[in-house]
Amino acid sequence: MSEYMEVIQIKDKRFKTFIPEADILKEVGRVANEINRDLSDANPLFVCVLNGAFMFTADLMKNVNIPCEISFVKLASYEGTSSTGKVKELVGLSEDITGRTVVIVEDIVDTGLTMKRLVETLRTKNPKDVRIATLLVKPDKLQVNLDLDYVAMKIPNDFIVGYGLDYDGLGRNFRDIYTVI
Ligand code: IMP
Repeated sequence: MSEYMEVIQIKDKRFKTFIPEADILKEVGRVANEINRDLSDANPLFVCVLNGAFMFTADLMKNVNIPCEISFVKLASYEGTSSTGKVKELVGLSEDITGRTVVIVEDIVDTGLTMKRLVETLRTKNPKDVRIATLLVKPDKLQVNLDLDYVAMKIPNDFIVGYGLDYDGLGRNFRDIYTVI
């Protein structure tokens, strides 16, 4: 870890440097190597979940050197009729994923509800395999049983911004990850 520490303000919250870019890139490179090793013959379709995963996806894909395709989806939140309240709907996946190996590329798994819903939705489209690559996971907040195949970093429960992640729409452009103080 670098000694360098910066404090930033976004709206009403203050954040300090938590994971510098160099440390992030090291772990992203490790994940890419795991994917290169596991999926060299699978021609996987990487599905980047916008907006948060855009920066992770870019750096990950620069290090993935096997034949593959990349697509992008958004999750639209709406008030569902189910007792759980908010559910999320997949928008924008135009590819036919029948018989394909799909790797979801996500910024962070917090409660895991978003990811679980996404995996279930993709499974209805008859893929061969659905894998998860996430930049971050907050293991102590996980509420559902999820197989996280590729994890760059595990972090505590605190709220973070940067490297794609936002606070109220701001902070996605920062190259380092910051934690709330
Ligand atoms: P989950 O459904 O609780 O796992 O929530 C996942 C989503 O919540 C992520 O895709 C992020 O958009 C958002 N999220 C969770 N924790 C953080 C955080 O610490 N900073 C910014 N966004 C977060």
